[in-house]
Amino acid sequence: MIDMMIDTKKMLAAVIGLAFAGAGLAALAQPSGGPQTGIVFRNTVTGEALDTSQGKEGGRDTEAVKTFLQTGKNLYIDDKSCLRNGESLFATSCSGCHGHLAEGKLGPGLNDNYWTYPANTEDVGLFSTIFGGANGMMGPHNENLTPDEMLQTIAWIRHLYTGPVRDAVWLNDDQKKTYTPYKEGEKIPQDAKGQCKPLD
Ligand code: HEC
Repeated sequence: MIDMMIDTKKMLAAVIGLAFAGAGLAALAQPSGGPQTGIVFRNTVTGEALDTSQGKEGGRDTEAVKTFLQTGKNLYIDDKSCLRNGESLFATSCSGCHGHLAEGKLGPGLNDNYWTYPANTEDVGLFSTIFGGANGMMGPHNENLTPDEMLQTIAWIRHLYTGPVRDAVWLNDDQKKTYTPYKEGEKIPQDAKGQCKPLD
């Protein structure tokens, strides 16, 4: 009788051991899809999850990208060195369709408070639209911009905003107090200091 009890205990231990080993193997078998992100980015139109490790290489190990993938907060907002880069990235990749000042052309204006997709009022939404595209001519841009470059482009788009400050939900309360919209002819100094190194 006592022998049997010991056997049952041993068996139980063996079964539990196996279960743990199994769980370990399952964890190993998980695809390693890049760094774990806190935020799930979703395609603006289909809602399908986006894999931020896909696309143009590089621009993923900056403090700003790591922070953004975890929290959705864009550290480049209002940073002059990033606005300088964002202006040039926007001119190359976006302004042909959205206009020099994001006033709208073939694509809709991005400088007012009307959004086809209200998710774009958050930087997580805007990032997702740039990364994964939307409808028609608005294709995904993850092959020609790295996540870091997207954050710089977003900072520039937010700088071009001319709508009421109260609708600028991407700004925190302090940023709202000091927000000054872009003025035509404004020049960002090429040697502006900040978090963003000049583009190659
Ligand atoms: C080839 C033309 C084209 C280019 C280049 C382009 N877009 Fe678009 N974009 C469009 C069109 C057309 C739409 C409308 C699509 C829709 O409604 O689904 C759009 C929609 C958008 C929207 C949604 C706006 C809203 O009101 O919700 C955002 C944001 C956007 N584009 C940002 C960008 C950014 C940033 C870039 C550069 C990285 C870019 N686009 C490059 C044509 C373009």
